[in-house]
Amino acid sequence: MVVPLVLALPGAGALAAQTGNQRAQAPVISDTADLDGPRQPIFFRHDVHSGQDQIPCMYCHYSVAVSSEPGIPSLQTCIGCHQLIGGSTPSHQAEIKKVRDAWRERKPPEWIRIHAVPGFVRFPHQRHIKALGLQSCTKCHGDVQRMPQVYQVSTLRMGWCVRCHVENKVSRDCTVCHY
Ligand code: HEC
Ligand code: HEC
Ligand code: HEC
Ligand code: HEC
Ligand code: HEC
Repeated sequence: MVVPLVLALPGAGALAAQTGNQRAQAPVISDTADLDGPRQPIFFRHDVHSGQDQIPCMYCHYSVAVSSEPGIPSLQTCIGCHQLIGGSTPSHQAEIKKVRDAWRERKPPEWIRIHAVPGFVRFPHQRHIKALGLQSCTKCHGDVQRMPQVYQVSTLRMGWCVRCHVENKVSRDCTVCHY
């Protein structure tokens, strides 16, 4: 049973209460050409999943709090819902069909990575979330739950990192961030 599962997701209501977010009806988008961010192999919408349907970030990005690689969810996470949820509009149906086909053919979509720091920089993602809280995603990633397509909001440049470290009285020694 999937719809009750969505409603019963632990934390979904609490998330809405904490952030004061109302269930925002996501707009119908017929032209994707003008959206910010790279075009992904499947038009997966955060404004629908996280904004309208209030699925907590952690439901899909659960590894953010435990490992240094936040990770993109596997198809198994998607198909748990999309075996039953086929979509309410023709464009949703067409995109969800891609998810089902990928699952059947065992060909996971090759999501284009958006955020990345260079290899000579150490960025322990999970330590930040532990220190700044589970609601801190917006501080660095912007208002993802309103994005039809994810794009980079922060520069991820050294000055951006150091500014926040100074504000939070975290060490800014070169060796903290550079090997
Ligand atoms: C239903 C599953 C799901 C939920 C819920 C979800 N995401 Fe995602 N997220 C994905 C998938 C799939 C991708 C890769 C495709 C894309 O970029 O849209 C992704 C990509 C991202 C990226 C870009 C990763 C990169 O390559 O840099 C960020 C940042 C992100 N999500 C943050 C969030 C935040 C913050 C929330 C909660 C407001 C959230 N996500 C909720 C599935 C989810
Ligand atoms: C907890 C349940 C749930 C999970 C998990 C989930 N979805 Fe969805 N998804 C939905 C719902 C609800 C809709 C809205 C369906 C509608 O009314 O058209 C939706 C819609 C979609 C659509 C149509 C366009 C859009 O994004 O709204 C796509 C594509 C999609 N999902 C892909 C994915 C992918 C890829 C994953 C795994 C990374 C995933 N979904 C995980 C519930 C889920
Ligand atoms: C202090 C800033 C900061 C916070 C807070 C933060 N992120 Fe990130 N996130 C980053 C940076 C920087 C990267 C790129 C990391 C890299 O290249 O190793 C990233 C990468 C990601 C990615 C892509 C990683 C991948 O494996 O492809 C996802 C997904 C993501 N973040 C989700 C989240 C979610 C969900 C939250 C909230 C729970 C969150 N982030 C909180 C800065 C942050
Ligand atoms: C929004 C604020 C914020 C931003 C932006 C930010 N950090 Fe941090 N960072 C913190 C906080 C707070 C801690 C302390 C975590 C703790 O106490 O465990 C921290 C800790 C760290 C640590 C571990 C420090 C140690 O003592 O071992 C590293 C490494 C680090 N950050 C690198 C980066 C890099 C690289 C960037 C930019 C790509 C960045 N941070 C951006 C707030 C931030
Ligand atoms: C809080 C994390 C952080 C600290 C502290 C830090 N850096 Fe960086 N540094 C970064 C990040 C992230 C980048 C990559 C993005 C960029 O080039 O701005 C970077 C890039 C660089 C580069 C390459 C610049 C380029 O244009 O390619 C040099 C050189 C550098 N840092 C030197 C230093 C020195 C020297 C210190 C100590 C005084 C220092 N960094 C402290 C995060 C940090």
